[in-house]
Amino acid sequence: MPAICRSRHIRIVSGHEWNNIATGMKNRLIPGTGLRVSPVCLGTMTFGTPVGETDAIRLIHEALDHGVNFIDTANIYEGYTRVIGSAGGVAEEILGRAIVGRRGQAIIATKLGMKVGDAPEDEGTSAAAIRKHLALSLKRLAVDCIDIYYLHKFDPAASMTETLAEIAAEMRDGKIRHYGVSNYSAPQLRELLATADANGLPRPVICQPPLSLLKPEVLNDLLPLCEKEQIGVAPYQVLQGGLLTGKYRRGEAPPAGSRKAEKDAWVWALDENLFQQLDGIQKKADKAGVSMSQYAIQWVLNQKAVVSAIIGVKRIEQLKEAIVAVRH
Ligand SMILES: NC(=O)c1ccc[n+]([C@@H]2O[C@H](COP(=O)([O-])OP(=O)(O)OC[C@H]3O[C@@H](n4cnc5c(N)ncnc54)[C@H](OP(=O)(O)O)[C@@H]3O)[C@@H](O)[C@H]2O)c1
Repeated sequence: MPAICRSRHIRIVSGHEWNNIATGMKNRLIPGTGLRVSPVCLGTMTFGTPVGETDAIRLIHEALDHGVNFIDTANIYEGYTRVIGSAGGVAEEILGRAIVGRRGQAIIATKLGMKVGDAPEDEGTSAAAIRKHLALSLKRLAVDCIDIYYLHKFDPAASMTETLAEIAAEMRDGKIRHYGVSNYSAPQLRELLATADANGLPRPVICQPPLSLLKPEVLNDLLPLCEKEQIGVAPYQVLQGGLLTGKYRRGEAPPAGSRKAEKDAWVWALDENLFQQLDGIQKKADKAGVSMSQYAIQWVLNQKAVVSAIIGVKRIEQLKEAIVAVRH
């Protein structure tokens, strides 16, 4: 019999999985934290455009209603209008308005480090950048504390010790519960862990790399390292921007309303090599009796150390399809 946890809606189904009885979602523990996250994490990169505020709030509420409790944003996110150095902040503001009265249901992750302005502290992860951009993110999200604060990319110009000391200070002040890293290579993560350990500073609890059936490179080194070091993994671009949904076809124009039709630069070129890979994946999905997008999500969730797959969705039906994938 599974053990019953403190909440009467949750029971343990295996060492690292908790079944939320109310929603049917099998949540996974981020090692070293008390955070049990849903296997689908709602991405917010397209909130602003093409997903306007009303639709974005509807998606967030639908996600929360169905037990998707993990939401991923970043200080730069503003949808398709984003260019290097633009101010961002739009997705955080929308998310902040969406969770009014529902803060307790959501585990919120945001990030700093990409260029969002022209001041020296508007890019990277120096202590000054953290102080400035954490305050801005807290304000836009209208929360006192961020559950997971990601360093969005490795910053070669910042002292790692200084970065981690500032993160530790913000954790002590109660503004961050935990921190993570995104787009770090295995050697960069190893260096970060060594710096943390040597200086008695906190270790990251989660890592956010790109990972999909079409982009499996991090399986070689980063994921084994995360598994060894007990760091959870929340991969992004699990559907490779929509390519892994089967919606793009040889010799046909991208469907109206698709990302490829709306924002060509955000989706890989549709060439024969890609279509051959997609054919192979479709065959495997058919054999498994699921859609290509469900197969792609399940494949990522079956990789070691993965706690949640971050999914971008534009429409409620797309969110529902991702939820069905993790309930199988
Ligand atoms: N850390 C980082 O550097 C980083 C970088 C990128 C993203 N991220 C995070 O990862 C999240 C997801 O990224 P992403 O949106 O680029 O990748 P994705 O999840 O691979 O692709 C999402 C897109 O696929 C299409 N789609 C989703 N479900 C579908 C379905 N069932 N049927 C047909 N099409 C479907 C939708 O686009 P259309 O309907 O418009 O075609 C959707 O916007 C972001 O929101 C963000 O939170 C992080």
